[in-house]
Amino acid sequence: MMWVLRALCPMAVLPILMPAPAAAQASYDAAARIFRLDGGDVTYAFKVNATGILQSVYWGRRLPDRAPLAAPELSGLSGFDVAANVVPQEYAGQGGGLYAEPALKVTYADGNRDLVLYYRSHEVRGDEVRVTLSDLDRPLFVTLTYRIDRSTGVIARSAVIENRGATDVRVDQAAAAGYTLPVAYDYRLHYSTGRWAAEWTLQDRALTAGSTVLESRRGSTGSQNNPWFTITRGDTTEENGPAWIGALAWSGSWRMTFDQDVTGRIRVTGGYNPFDFAYRLRPGARLETPTFFTGFSDRGRGGASRLFHRFQREHVLPHHGGDLPPLRKVLYNSWEATEFKVDEAGQLALAERAAKLGVERFVMDDGWFGQRNSDKAGLGDWTVNPAKFPRGLTPLIDRVKALGMDFGLWVEPEMINADSDLYRAHPDWVMGFKERPRTEGRNQLVLNLARTDVRDHVLAVLDKLVSENDIAFLKWDYNRNWSEPGWPDADVADQQTIYVAYVRNLYWIIDELRKRHPGLEIESCSGGGGRVDLGIMARTDQVWPSDNTDPFDRMLIQDGFTQAYAPAAMMAWVTDSPNWVNRRQTTLSFRFLSAMQGGLGIGTNLNKWGDTEMATARYYVASYKRVRETVQRGDLYRLNRANAADQRWTNLYVAADRSQAALFTLVGSTNKLDVMPTINLRGLDPDAQYRIEAMDGTALPATVPARASGAYWMNHGVDVTLRGDFQGMGMILTRVR
Ligand code: GLA
Repeated sequence: MMWVLRALCPMAVLPILMPAPAAAQASYDAAARIFRLDGGDVTYAFKVNATGILQSVYWGRRLPDRAPLAAPELSGLSGFDVAANVVPQEYAGQGGGLYAEPALKVTYADGNRDLVLYYRSHEVRGDEVRVTLSDLDRPLFVTLTYRIDRSTGVIARSAVIENRGATDVRVDQAAAAGYTLPVAYDYRLHYSTGRWAAEWTLQDRALTAGSTVLESRRGSTGSQNNPWFTITRGDTTEENGPAWIGALAWSGSWRMTFDQDVTGRIRVTGGYNPFDFAYRLRPGARLETPTFFTGFSDRGRGGASRLFHRFQREHVLPHHGGDLPPLRKVLYNSWEATEFKVDEAGQLALAERAAKLGVERFVMDDGWFGQRNSDKAGLGDWTVNPAKFPRGLTPLIDRVKALGMDFGLWVEPEMINADSDLYRAHPDWVMGFKERPRTEGRNQLVLNLARTDVRDHVLAVLDKLVSENDIAFLKWDYNRNWSEPGWPDADVADQQTIYVAYVRNLYWIIDELRKRHPGLEIESCSGGGGRVDLGIMARTDQVWPSDNTDPFDRMLIQDGFTQAYAPAAMMAWVTDSPNWVNRRQTTLSFRFLSAMQGGLGIGTNLNKWGDTEMATARYYVASYKRVRETVQRGDLYRLNRANAADQRWTNLYVAADRSQAALFTLVGSTNKLDVMPTINLRGLDPDAQYRIEAMDGTALPATVPARASGAYWMNHGVDVTLRGDFQGMGMILTRVR
């Protein structure tokens, strides 16, 4: 298939790979005034109603081609709830008596704050619909873009707001899209909450009357909530029933609201966070929203996750010229081993040991630059510390390469310590309000990337670093949230555009850097998983879900992460035991089996490992390389998720062509000689024969035959009983021809 680089939303916001158009997926029925998009197993439809408002019609399982899609003409429910609240609008302007969540709210210079958006024109092309709306009498235009992916049915929606008038308009609130689900009273909302070292905690609540707000006011994505959701019905299970999934592609402050409206419909609205938001649109100016991606599956939450994973692999994550994102390299990272105490001899010693294990990428973390001996100084000064690396980085990089690995480096380009040469030279480059104190987080301040001089400086520094050193990979960190988000040098009416301009410039820097260094790979890290979203994932190759490397906590974290995001981008490290988080002691095998379920890394002090640990690790790294394509590009089935009664995680990854499967079962604690439930596999070819083996090379229990059909593994299942605390087993199933 031919691939072209196309923008689902305007280029400045998100470059994404989409297939070249073939058969049309989008259509318009002029008689009924209904737009319809079909892709995968999904149909999405909306119409222009009798009053000219854009009204949601259908979003769910694919309908037959000529299915009648009439939707009722709705009017007000009573004098208290006029039509604006009853019609499920695709993109509601704040006006005309709307009390539901608006998609767009504006204020005019003359004080007018009433906005009612009517259909004006449209364009249907291939798998894309563009509809232009404008206010009933003022020249404020909104162009909505809908695009459906023909294989997964994932929909991308975004909006461009344009002031075609002669006076300024202030945008107070702008969403990418509004989505509606039909009246029902058994919807459930699944989402994640978190904080540092505790990201991706899954929540599940009824969507009843009232609002649920998920958001970040932090200037970046944040881990308090992550911008994804899944909505299910009461009878939806892991593998069956309807599931609507969505995620915003935006790495700044964001918000999603979930409301059951006066009629019982569910309305989902998402985009820029209106908190502290004000965006001046001068005459002729436009504001582009982020893209809001959504998918539907009738195969439960597991089906929705797999759909989203596939979409991310095929259309979001960078491909570097291939059909899919390159496989993640097994990496070593020095952070937990050395923290800030890095130097040439110490890193070399670790690199020698890492190479013996089969590691493919050696990453030196924090501490290599400026006066960076602790987190109190040095951020901003991206030149090699001469005391630690008197010969520069080249001798270390050369040796790492001679050992057969490539070299990666930690940077945190958006941040600055007050104790740095950069701050001494440019104190005004920091975000803040004039003559007000600035709150520090981890002893650091945030550079105001919205300023073009700061933006250009950051790019120049990174470009120089990557040009002068043979760097294959950057771990791009971001270790605090915003405070005092001031931009005193901008016109007062433009200062709050910082929420948009900062992120746009961040994207611009990364895009430009990648353009100048096409092979460069980047990891998005924000003290762990504080900046994971589809916007950053479109321009970084992997993400760090959490600083919490406890292998059991990590199962929870990875389970939360993979609800929406692909294992192809999820890094996981094997670190020390007892682990620093819970002082929990686990075997090396257990740590590997946990970390092998995404992109494998090793983050331990290898100098402390004896021959036995080195041999075990070498074996697991080799096993991982056998299954990594399946883990990173296959389908993930969550066969058992731990709960209060059963502390067991069982995950299965099945290769796209069903030739291999990787099965991981890990338990926190076993009790009372309990026999464990049989594991019934999924997704295999029922007629093919598969042989099974343990990932650590040991013999499997006598209850497991060496070879059987896919049907056997799925129906009869695999019986393995684990005993003890923090035990696990990994198995590889290989199709036999
Ligand atoms: C953050 C990252 C860690 C490490 C440190 C270095 O906390 O999440 O992995 O890189 O910064 O200071």
